[in-house]
Amino acid sequence: MSANEMWGGRFAGGPAAIMQEINASIDFDKRMYLQDILGSKAHSDMLAATGIISEQDRDEIHRGLTQIQEEIEADKFEFSAELEDIHMNVEARLKEIIGDAAGRLHTARSRNDQVATDFRLWLRDAIDSLDAQYADLHKALINKAEKHADVVMPGFTHLQAAQPVTFGHHLLAYAEMVGRDRSRLADCRKRLNECPLGAAALAGTSFPTDRHMTAKALGFDGPTRNSMDSVAARDFAMEFLAAASISAVHLSRLAEEIVIWASQQFSFVALSDAFTTGSSIMPQKKNPDAAELIRAKPGRIIGSLNALLIVMKGLPMTYGKDMQEDKEVTFDAADNLSLCVAVMAGMVEDMEPRPEFMKAALVNGFPTATDLADWCVRVLNMPFRDAHHVTGSLVALAEKKECGLEDLSLADMQTVEASITEDVFSVLSSEASVTSRTSYGGTAPENVRAMAAEARARFLK
Ligand code: ARG
Repeated sequence: MSANEMWGGRFAGGPAAIMQEINASIDFDKRMYLQDILGSKAHSDMLAATGIISEQDRDEIHRGLTQIQEEIEADKFEFSAELEDIHMNVEARLKEIIGDAAGRLHTARSRNDQVATDFRLWLRDAIDSLDAQYADLHKALINKAEKHADVVMPGFTHLQAAQPVTFGHHLLAYAEMVGRDRSRLADCRKRLNECPLGAAALAGTSFPTDRHMTAKALGFDGPTRNSMDSVAARDFAMEFLAAASISAVHLSRLAEEIVIWASQQFSFVALSDAFTTGSSIMPQKKNPDAAELIRAKPGRIIGSLNALLIVMKGLPMTYGKDMQEDKEVTFDAADNLSLCVAVMAGMVEDMEPRPEFMKAALVNGFPTATDLADWCVRVLNMPFRDAHHVTGSLVALAEKKECGLEDLSLADMQTVEASITEDVFSVLSSEASVTSRTSYGGTAPENVRAMAAEARARFLK
């Protein structure tokens, strides 16, 4: 094998085939072709504006890069593993198209600042398109919550019926989580939006470059301030993966609830045919595969975060080829998170609650016990701790009689606490319970409607 045409000056021979296999990244970094081309256009503009290259060369470089973009998008570009990565594939093809002027493009830059720039640009685009998908999920959650602001269901702690809540309130809990997920990604976007281009290999350059100009042209807030940090930093990707992992965990919690709700035992929701599958042997089955897969995806997304943290841990300054391992995991996490968000939006939009089953589930577990204790505090002026104790005894009594609290007679209740009056029955239904919970952030239907409107204004600008 002959020496590499891009860097082979000091090499007598070429790399072993197996070396190429471990070294080449083109199979995955070709995804950054557009960012690479835009970066090179901005860089050559700057080189011409500062007089480092001629305007004719700049024009030739632009012409060649535009042609390369067209070739790639028409699937006519031949990617070569011998040329390692997207940067050298593009530059080599540029030389074929425009000749020697292509060799001037790499003045005052290196692949180290180039790849850092391309990767930041790619991630910025990925965050922007993810955010649009999250907006769809937000819309689905908020619309569904508003529509079912009155539907009463058991709220759980320890997966034990705790207090009645509304289905709308439950869904808006996820709208809040998704809101924080989006703001975490927006924070990540803000911090990553500095341009490493022009840091060159690690030490900066002796050419009279204008890094502010390239930063601005590429939509960055400004250039990175330290040339070594510019090529060594990958915390923008780690931060993205951390935010992606947290969001994947949130989505998996909702997915798990959907799996539980859709089970025959609960039957709290009906899922659409569009997001379920049948069984090849059991004709009656309608399986929540989409929810199960979303439940599983944190495996690979957290795995990606873990992988990159471990790759970066203990790496000395500045660039090391280790860092080429940053992209596959980040691409995979971004792809899978995007899939999860889109599927979840569709599944939530189609999902219909089954209020009769939710209501039936409220018969067990004495979900209005807290309302009873609160009534004792409010009407009988008991300290809450005493009221808690009285209610506990009433629950034990109902348990013995195998009935709900609301099914006890007033006489029965008075055997536990003589001062209880008929009025207590007004707080023992689930509907009364949720209607009374009008505290800020509480589950009352009127709150849920107001919060849905507020969430729409906050998240769907
Ligand atoms: N493909 C490389 C990567 O993704 C590009 C940077 C290579 N730089 C170098 N000095 N070998 O990290």
